[in-house]
Amino acid sequence: NVLILDFGSQYTQLIARRVRELNIFCEIFPFDKIPEDLSSYKAVILGGSPFSVRSEEALHPDLSQIRGKMPLLAVCYGAQYLAHFSGGEVAASNTREYGRANLSFIQENELFLEGVSPNSQVWMSHSDSIKQLPTNGVRIASTKDVENAAYKIEGETTYAIQFHPEVYHSTEGKQMLENFLVKIAEVPQNFTPKAFVEEIVAEMKEKIGTDKVVLGLSGGVDSTVAAVLLNKAIGNNLYCIFVNNGLLRKNEFQSVLDQYKGMGLNVKGVDASQRFYDALAGLDDPEAKRKAIGNAFIEVFDDEAHQLTDVKFLGQGTIYPDVIESVSATGGPSATIKSHHNVGGLPDFMKLKIVEPLRMLFKDEVRRVGATLGIDPELLGRHPFPGPGLAIRILGDITPEKVAILQEVDAIFINGLKEHNLYNSVWQAGAILLPVNSVGVMGDERTYEKVVALRAVESTDGMTADWVHLPYEFLMKTSNEIINKVKGVNRVVYDISSKPPATIEWE
Ligand code: XMP
Repeated sequence: NVLILDFGSQYTQLIARRVRELNIFCEIFPFDKIPEDLSSYKAVILGGSPFSVRSEEALHPDLSQIRGKMPLLAVCYGAQYLAHFSGGEVAASNTREYGRANLSFIQENELFLEGVSPNSQVWMSHSDSIKQLPTNGVRIASTKDVENAAYKIEGETTYAIQFHPEVYHSTEGKQMLENFLVKIAEVPQNFTPKAFVEEIVAEMKEKIGTDKVVLGLSGGVDSTVAAVLLNKAIGNNLYCIFVNNGLLRKNEFQSVLDQYKGMGLNVKGVDASQRFYDALAGLDDPEAKRKAIGNAFIEVFDDEAHQLTDVKFLGQGTIYPDVIESVSATGGPSATIKSHHNVGGLPDFMKLKIVEPLRMLFKDEVRRVGATLGIDPELLGRHPFPGPGLAIRILGDITPEKVAILQEVDAIFINGLKEHNLYNSVWQAGAILLPVNSVGVMGDERTYEKVVALRAVESTDGMTADWVHLPYEFLMKTSNEIINKVKGVNRVVYDISSKPPATIEWE
């Protein structure tokens, strides 16, 4: 187990992902919330920070239980911190050093750099430089512009690097992390999907015992994998509820419900479409729509949960990025929890304890665990779909008629992507029904009908996204099919905006 201390860098989660890719388990903690009992940790990594060690706001971790007592790797801010407060010197660089650089010197026979080429490319992102190494510091790598690009401390298993090994552009960064964690710190590489499944199933069995758990399934990857894990742990004491909010894709409610039953899950499908349409009637503001849908879901779910007796737990598909308590760079050095609908959103009247089998996993790890559990690859590879569903893809107010039109359009688009082998290379795709009529001509008739937009984006996490350059041939076929088959639509446009400044959804 590896402990990563967060100083507010945007790259801290990336360090964790790289460590996990080495099949090593790790956890992120804010720099000022170091666990008291460190006995289960085999190594510590200090991350980067938007702050300067020379500024008044410099973040001061208490490393007294760590430094010299266990293997320590300090990255960027961490490396400067060790230098500045342990007898070295850090000063402002003449220029901000940002981007690719190449090593120009590496220490021979240095275990940390074993297998790393002498001119390896690394990623720099800092505006201070380490002018003088700390007491007992020994330089082990330089670049043309940064003399002290990496150093170690004699007499300790402490290593420090100015560049970011976790960033993709540090081409041998993963090798360095592996050298540090595996060769130097001797951390076992035993965190595999299979090992995770065994461990979490045992843990859930122990925690839940013979009690009952209720869980809301959405058809998405996270809730499905969470349900399968809980099912493995407690069998039919897991009660799943899958709500049709009337805003799902065409035929999705029935096909996903069938799929769940085929997986042996104890699942009840609840068609509450009308309740959602009633709650949405006349609302056209996006946030008002989201709120109405959220409230309706809680009501429906609560009604269903009350029909079960003696339920003690609420299962949730919360994943690690929703849980990590990260240091907020803009809010000063105080720690804040990122707000997310899955965290703490439990209404008072559902006084249930929470079980979250995926709370330590990143999304890609959830998919791998799902694969290990034998879940259909098609389900695991599904595009993300927002909780409020088609309601935020129908601009303006929602009616069942508009939902039906958009479902048809969406189905033609998504099935087309699958048929043309484009679905898996797109991160998310969907159609948007615009509150605009346009003039068209069909045969000899003038038409005045709806416009739909198609959207397909590439992304890794939804935070940023680029529109996908779908082939013109494909767009042409899709547009023809939509206009020919979907009554009420006479024009199709393709959204060519990236995020930022646009967002993925239109509302
Ligand atoms: P945006 O539109 O903010 O979307 O670029 C980023 C990702 O989040 C999804 N999204 C939502 N998911 N409830 C959800 O569960 C919502 O209210 C919501 N709004 C956006 C969106 O589909 C994309 O994957």
